[in-house]
Amino acid sequence: MNTLLKAVNPKDSILLYDFYQKIPANECGFKNDAYNISKDEFVKYLQKKYDSSQGINLKPNRVPSTEFILYINNIPVGIGRVRHYLTEELLNHAGHISFAIAPEFRGQCYATILLKSLLEQAKMLNLSKVLLTCNENNVGSYKTIEKNGGKLDRIHSGERFYWIDLA
Ligand SMILES: CC(C)(COP(=O)(O)OP(=O)(O)OC[C@H]1O[C@@H](n2cnc3c(N)ncnc32)[C@H](O)[C@@H]1OP(=O)(O)O)[C@@H](O)C(=O)NCCC(=O)NCCS
Repeated sequence: MNTLLKAVNPKDSILLYDFYQKIPANECGFKNDAYNISKDEFVKYLQKKYDSSQGINLKPNRVPSTEFILYINNIPVGIGRVRHYLTEELLNHAGHISFAIAPEFRGQCYATILLKSLLEQAKMLNLSKVLLTCNENNVGSYKTIEKNGGKLDRIHSGERFYWIDLA
């Protein structure tokens, strides 16, 4: 099996448009703002994501964040996001990393592979530990986090908070 994690780039819009339509607009807190938008808008979406990873044109209270695609045997299967540092708001909700696998590719350990690869990226950003949060009852998400070394810190207002040590 060939696996590749690649940051999104506006040049990939033709390849990625159909894939983004497979990820629901909002599922268990993972938001896909590219769902149901036009192809022209999608190029702008990818440009915005690319700019964000470079810290360009950030909205107030937004931190640089890199959006990655996991490819399995050259097919896009999942999206992962790494926020480069935390704000007070991210510390209390959402954390450093979020991820989603397109429904048709679930149950094949791809989220586990995706998170492992995202942690390598977080390490390259010099993060020594990362915070991940998920809905208290999102079994797929918290199992993925625990399989990647997540230690439960607390459950608060229906949300689980995990830290993963990268040192
Ligand atoms: C959560 C999600 C990423 C899991 O993706 P996946 O590729 O199916 O996960 P994996 O195959 O790597 O499975 C990881 C573990 O979770 C378990 N799991 C996955 N989905 C599950 C489910 N719906 N119910 C129970 N366990 C589940 C798997 O069995 C596996 O554990 P195991 O090795 O002990 O059997 C996927 O369901 C998804 O994209 N959900 C919507 C978005 C989301 O919730 N993102 C996370 C919060 S930001």
